[in-house]
Formats: sequence, C-alpha cells, structure tokens
Amino acid sequence: MNLARELDERLPSSVVQALRTVGVIAESLGMTAFVVGGFVRDLLLGTPTLDVDIVAEGDGTKLAQALARQWGGTVTLHERFLTATLHWAMGRWDVATARKERYPQPAALPEVEPATIADDLWRRDFSVNAMAICLSPDRFGELIDPTGGYGDLQKGIIRILHDGSFVDDPTRIFRAVRYEQRFGFRMDAKTLRLLYQARNESWLMRLSRDRIKHELWRTLQERDPTKPLWRLWQWGILRVVAPELRITKARLQWLKQIGEWLRWHQGHFPDEALQREWALLLSLLPTADAVMTFCQRYQLGEWERQSGSALLRALRSRLPKRPSGWVRKFNPLPLEVALALAARRSSVAKESWQRYFLEWRLTRPDITGEALRAHGIEGRAIAVGLQAALAAKLDENADAAEQLRVALRAARCFLRRSGLR
Ligand code: CTP
Repeated sequence: MNLARELDERLPSSVVQALRTVGVIAESLGMTAFVVGGFVRDLLLGTPTLDVDIVAEGDGTKLAQALARQWGGTVTLHERFLTATLHWAMGRWDVATARKERYPQPAALPEVEPATIADDLWRRDFSVNAMAICLSPDRFGELIDPTGGYGDLQKGIIRILHDGSFVDDPTRIFRAVRYEQRFGFRMDAKTLRLLYQARNESWLMRLSRDRIKHELWRTLQERDPTKPLWRLWQWGILRVVAPELRITKARLQWLKQIGEWLRWHQGHFPDEALQREWALLLSLLPTADAVMTFCQRYQLGEWERQSGSALLRALRSRLPKRPSGWVRKFNPLPLEVALALAARRSSVAKESWQRYFLEWRLTRPDITGEALRAHGIEGRAIAVGLQAALAAKLDENADAAEQLRVALRAARCFLRRSGLR
C-alpha cells in the first residue's frame, strides 16, 4: 500500500517536501528513513498531526545532524537511546536509530541496540502505533505494517504486540486507555486481560513518580479528559496511583466545564500562559488533605498547594455583589483558581464571570499615585486611595475627577484612623 497521495492531500506541501528531503539525505548517507508512530496513525485516521517522528535504519543521530546542516536548527543528542531531537523551523522532530529494546527489569528504562525497521515497529506499544511510511526516493509513501496496525485501525482495536508489554512498560496501561477513549476504539480481549493482570500485580507501583505524573498530565491534555479519567477510575488504576483524587460524575462534569472555561480564556488571552492540567485537577481534590497528599506525592510546589486550598476556601463563600468586590476577592488568586470557580458556578453568574475575566480584573483607576502624592498623601494611604478610586470606577462608573475625590477621601480617612494625621 502506498500513501504518497494521502500525504500530498492531507498535509501542508512544505511538510511533504521536508519528508522527501529526509529520504534523499538519508539515502546519501547510506540509510533508509521512515516516518513512524502517531504521525502515520493520525494520517490514516484523516486527522493528521505535524508531530514528526523519524526512524532511520542506520545512525539516526548522524541523520539529524545532516538535516540540521541542510535546514539550519539545533540537535540534542540522547545517545543512550540512539535518538536525537532536531529543533528547526517546522518545530521539534525526533530522529531515532531503528532499534530493539531489552528491559533489564520490569518498568525500568530499556537497553537498546540498532536493528531493522520491522524490529523497531514490533517493540512498540500497540499495533496502531506500529506503522511506518518509507521516505526513500524510490519507495516514498510505502506503508510498512508488520503487525497488522492498518487492519486494527479500521476495526477500531487497540492491541498490544507482545505479552510482556504492560509489564515491561506499565505506562502503556495509561496509553491504552487514552487511545481507546480518544478514538472511541476498544481493546481486544487479550490486551484487556493482560492490562488487568499487570494492574493486579501492581506493576504500576514500579514506575517512578515522575513517569506516572507524566502520564496523568498527558491524560489531562486530551481533548476530553473525562473519558479516560473515568475509565482509569473504573478500572481501579487511579486508586493505585492517586487515591486522593475523588472521581464522581459531578466532579468530572465540573472538570469538563473548567476545560471549557480554559478554552474560552485562551481564545481571549492567547498569551496568558496557564497551568492547564492543574486547573483541571483542582476539581478532583475535595479536601485540604487531598491537596497536600497529591502535591507531596507528585512533588508539586507551594503554588499548587496554595491554589488548592485557596479554591476550597473560596468555594465556601458567596459571590460578591459589586464588581469591586469581585476584583478584591479574585484578583489575588491564581487565574486557574478563578476559572475553576467560574466553572463551578457559571450557571448562576456566567455573565458576571465573563465580565470579570474580560474587563473588571484588568481595570485600573484613571489616576495614579502621583496625583495623590501631589495632595500630600504618602505610604500605604496611596494604595488605599487607589483602591477606592478603582472601586468608584468599577461600581459607579466615576470619571477621573470623581475618582480623585474618592481616593483622597479614602486615603485621608485611612490616615486619620491609623493615627498618622
Ligand atoms: N511508544 C511506545 N511505547 C511507549 C511510548 C511510545 O511504543 N511507552 C511508541 C509508539 O509507537 C508511539 C511513539 O513511540 O506511537 C511515539 O510516542 P508518543 O509521542 O508518546 O505518542 P504518539 O503516538 O505520538 O501519540 P500521541 O498522539 O498520544 O502523542
């Protein structure tokens, strides 16, 4: 089967051209290059990604360096795994040497040695991820599918390739669930049996905390994370790796709403970077103890701890009446916490939340500290005055002159009360 037409039709021509160049340069070095994994799967599913993974029969690190010379860009080598990462104008491309893997012990990182593309595909997680497309000039577009991945893709099946797969690499338990739920596929009977067996034998506990965290975070990055999370919970996997998470239909609904608010926010403020995964997780941590335990388990920092407890506190209080109240209450909190709150309560106050995010939280008074200083105000009284000016602007739509009057009144009142004047 040849996929040259699908490549041409479904991908930007600059990407196809670059893939052809990889094939030509590899050949000039005496190697054969392939594009593999999720890229091939998603191309066949008709939802192509631009995440390019190249595998070379031959030294992949040399190929990466030759590509960097051709295109410009930098190469990071990971010699232990015979792989390299090329950062160039089209993003991050991984270039690996076709290899066999041996797991010295379950759940450890593998030892690797060079091999053929077929060996390389057989060592992979699932048949649908174990396909390659040849990039050589005379075979460009040829599908390499030794494990029957194309058939499984058509039938909607997630199938592991050897019995020890989940034991060698228990992260594949999470991966299987993610793919199954993302594509609406199902696992075949043997894969499912081996998954349960690996879970029952507690192989997950052999993984480092970092690797489990990575899988949890990747699950949260799914378009709809509630589906794989529900599955992981149903199958008792979350109970093993994060028993403090509370999974109920209502909490997952909340998580979904947080996802929608995050997307909404991203649409309006694309440059404002948010801890998306943490914002979603907030919905699953029901108590201060749960926040603490989860943060300890996954070595999260003070910011996560504080934001977790801030959310729990805020959930117990009422929404403010006036815009200035919203600003006073929510501006000191991380945006992630405010979005989680909005998601929880948006049915009653959606419009207010939207105005808060778009307008109120960004509003500044029309006067500055200088204007107050010119009237002899100093120190903390300036902040008090400016806050009053902001409240007048937000709540009463006061103009600059009125804001100054209100600010001076508030600052002087503060000074009198604190005995400073
Ligand atoms: N892979 C594997 N076992 C793992 C991780 C990865 O066999 N534990 C292989 C699979 O062939 C996979 C490829 O490495 O396709 C790349 O892995 P990754 O980038 O994690 O996944 P993608 O297939 O790109 O899928 P996703 O859309 O989830 O990123």
